[in-house]
Amino acid sequence: MPHVNVFDTTLRDGEQSPGVNINKLEKLEIAKHLERFGVDIMEAGFPASSQGDFEAVKAVADTVKNASVTGLARAKKSDIDTAWEALKGASEPRLHIFLATSPIHMTYKLKKTPEEVAQQAVEMVKYAREKFPHVEWSAEDATRSDMDFLVNIIERVIDAGATVINLPDTVGYATPQEYGRLFKTVRERVPNIARVQLSAHCHNDLGMAVANTIAAVENGATQVEGTINGIGERAGNAALEELAVALNIRKDQYPYTTNLVLKEIKRTSDVVSKLTGMVVPGNKAVVGRNAFAHESGIHQDGVLKNASTYEIITPALVGVESNNLVLGKHSGRRAFKDKVEQLGYELSDEKLNEAFKTFKSLTDRKKEVTAEDLATILTDIQTAV
Ligand code: KIV
Ligand code: ZN
Repeated sequence: MPHVNVFDTTLRDGEQSPGVNINKLEKLEIAKHLERFGVDIMEAGFPASSQGDFEAVKAVADTVKNASVTGLARAKKSDIDTAWEALKGASEPRLHIFLATSPIHMTYKLKKTPEEVAQQAVEMVKYAREKFPHVEWSAEDATRSDMDFLVNIIERVIDAGATVINLPDTVGYATPQEYGRLFKTVRERVPNIARVQLSAHCHNDLGMAVANTIAAVENGATQVEGTINGIGERAGNAALEELAVALNIRKDQYPYTTNLVLKEIKRTSDVVSKLTGMVVPGNKAVVGRNAFAHESGIHQDGVLKNASTYEIITPALVGVESNNLVLGKHSGRRAFKDKVEQLGYELSDEKLNEAFKTFKSLTDRKKEVTAEDLATILTDIQTAV
């Protein structure tokens, strides 16, 4: 089975989420969890962006031993030099250089011709390789770039020494079909492409980041990039926990291996949420509070008979202790009885019926009935004369 490398950018692109600022100690804590989660590469930050981030990247690089540590740099010598100072203590230092290749970015942002951009990319990749054993080059806004230009610049950057080529969907505009086609075409048309890893980096502006990333893998990407909980610039990046689980439980469709340790997912997600202040939505796939919760009576009854009726992921797979049968207005007698027993109450059928009626009338006034509410109902009924 082909192997896919996982590049985590929670500490760089994830930190670009509006309002998020992760300090050195927080980055170190998240980095330890990422290491346990088994990411192959972690992007610790953007060393030239601030003294604080330089120090944070350096601390991560000096500490993490079981993953390659990288930092972002613009295609300029001073950024590359600063990144080297931050990353040189890493067990496998790696640089991530980016330069935009789309007409929109080259014209309005860089104010450079395509040839000027190509020459700058080549020169900076060569410069970076004088120090770094691994250099990833990203064609920023690749999905809105001209294909002939992309093919040309990628070939030249590989000859200059890049070891990874990343094709970001910077603005989250591509569809899975288009993004897959981009990777297929690059594999077919760039003559020296087999010398490098080919990486996918997707943003979630249209909610398709994970689907796009998988489409890239199906079309020749050997590395995927994303963040924990999908945090990142604007609508975020591809959520690594979703990607990990999809690749794991749909092996029939996606026959690829990764080094990820799925049972670390929940813990890692909780730590990232706490330290970034980015609350995970309840209905978020895999790590949301409701991902393993069942409210309707029909579903609860099914799950109590056999969890696979309504659960395609076992909670244990991703480090969640158990599923949760939420008592609400759609809940049925079966889940109610189960909860009563779990709480240690022994009620006659008659008293159980009475308690169920009281519970149902409470659900018309309250969205979720808590264990405390239930304890009050049950104690009242049990002690009623
Ligand atoms: O989305 C993007 O294009 C990026 C680059 C810096 C790789 O994050
Ligand atoms: Zn990005």
